[in-house]
Amino acid sequence: MQIRSLGYVGLQGPDPKAWLEFATNVCGLMPARSVPGERAPGPPSAPNTDFGDGNAIASDGTAYVKLDDRQWRIAIHPDAKPGLRYVGLELAGPAALEAARAELEAGGVRVARGGDAERVARGVHDLVSFADPAGNRVELFHGVTVDKAFRSPRSVSKIVTGDLGMGHVVLLVPDLAKARAFYCDLLGFRLSDYVSFGPGQGVWFLRCNARHHSIALCHVGPISFLHHLAIELGSIDDVGCALDRAQSAGIPITSSLGRHANDKMFSFYMKSPFGFDVELGTGGTLVDDATWTPNEFIEGDVWGHKGLTPEALKSSGA
Ligand SMILES: [Fe+2]
Repeated sequence: MQIRSLGYVGLQGPDPKAWLEFATNVCGLMPARSVPGERAPGPPSAPNTDFGDGNAIASDGTAYVKLDDRQWRIAIHPDAKPGLRYVGLELAGPAALEAARAELEAGGVRVARGGDAERVARGVHDLVSFADPAGNRVELFHGVTVDKAFRSPRSVSKIVTGDLGMGHVVLLVPDLAKARAFYCDLLGFRLSDYVSFGPGQGVWFLRCNARHHSIALCHVGPISFLHHLAIELGSIDDVGCALDRAQSAGIPITSSLGRHANDKMFSFYMKSPFGFDVELGTGGTLVDDATWTPNEFIEGDVWGHKGLTPEALKSSGA
């Protein structure tokens, strides 16, 4: 199957408003002016936004964040247990979704068709869902809801999305072979390259478009957790200003500024209010399928990224 991009991500944790405030005031992302299912901007009260025509919170307490002209890209659901709730992978249309469903079922995957309530909750035309081998919920969808253009409340010049999707997620998985087979052989992701920490341990970077990776699988032991969600900003100044805001807000910086050796992303990592990291970066490599070779990297970084160690990966989610 041909997945186009990482379309959306659902997170969960005890206080969606705290994560929304972090996303807005530190990351500079935009609170959704309306939420899935709404046809028009929500109520005029907007205590956490600079926009005044919506409060980004749905009636079930889910907060929605906007990165571009899509109605939303990140949902934050109320739940006692923090972590990843789902990833949404975009397909071209109804025929692609039906073919993908048939492929998955032929591969022995139990696939659930999305009902009307789920379609409304995601603001998509249609979706199916299933679990990956680590138990993460994966949704395949087509057709989105488009809303006003992105306008950062913290003057971020641009969020890099479009055909490249919304960014990337890095998943700690307990069984690397099973996870790789699932994402590559069944879902059609391609290996961009990998960083090895030792026998059977490391990070495997998978792409579905020109973005170097939309999903990476990290194996450091029997752990299943979202390590980080990454958003690509328009410039080095956008990243630096976000770092200033994070430090002013007292957000723990889990990895200093640095440049990754493989995708060349200039970035830093910080601990989000739900425990997992958020990476903000810029300048990620674009992959040309015709010329790319999936190499192994011994060193993860050209410089910087102090704190991003296998030991730190092991302790994340603990
Ligand atoms: Fe990353």
